[in-house]
Amino acid sequence: MIAPSVLSADFANLQRDIEMLNRSEADWIHCDIMDGVFVPNISFGFPVMAAIDRVATKPLDVHLMIENADRYVTRFRDVGAEWLSIHLENNPHADRVLNHIRESGMKAGIVLNPGTPVELLRDLIPALDYVLIMSVNPGFGGQKFIENTYAKVARLAHMRQENHAHFLIEVDGGVNAQNASKLFDAGADVLVAGNAVFQAPDPVQMIAQLKRPL
Ligand code: DX5
Ligand code: ZN
Repeated sequence: MIAPSVLSADFANLQRDIEMLNRSEADWIHCDIMDGVFVPNISFGFPVMAAIDRVATKPLDVHLMIENADRYVTRFRDVGAEWLSIHLENNPHADRVLNHIRESGMKAGIVLNPGTPVELLRDLIPALDYVLIMSVNPGFGGQKFIENTYAKVARLAHMRQENHAHFLIEVDGGVNAQNASKLFDAGADVLVAGNAVFQAPDPVQMIAQLKRPL
């Protein structure tokens, strides 16, 4: 599956860009929420999410890069989130927040920074619908893909199999037509792509190419 990231869209033409994603083979629409505290950048919040939700016909996959995520779980549901992920690094009570996300009617995900090992997830497996592996340090679109990600995804896929678990594996950061097939081969189910899609001459065609990489 492919989840284009709205962070790289043209915010002055957001409706046009979301309608393009509706027409494309994109599976989810990835929304990056940054608070300027957990990550050194600020993106957008509830009013923009609600606007995206009014136009989008695909599930919204919301990646929270914020402090105190638990406070905002139901607010994100109310602006259209169907998949909601929180970082392990700033959520000491991750099990509680993941349960809260599920009880609020959404799919619950954990995000790992490049420096956080997948082995830390072992005891969270029952609470997880998906795991988002960062293949760049979060905060900005258009960064260079970290090569260690292939091995990390393969280790997580192995852990999933060993535990007879069914969570999805998503990869975010620097994904492009060159690394997509190797990521799917390593065990990824969903690839997020920002710049690769929105900087392409034909974004709809790029989404199709990422879905079926050579
Ligand atoms: C980075 C965000 C990503 C970003 C990906 O912190 O989580 O979702 O939009 O953009 P690209 O694909 O350009 O690296
Ligand atoms: Zn993201």
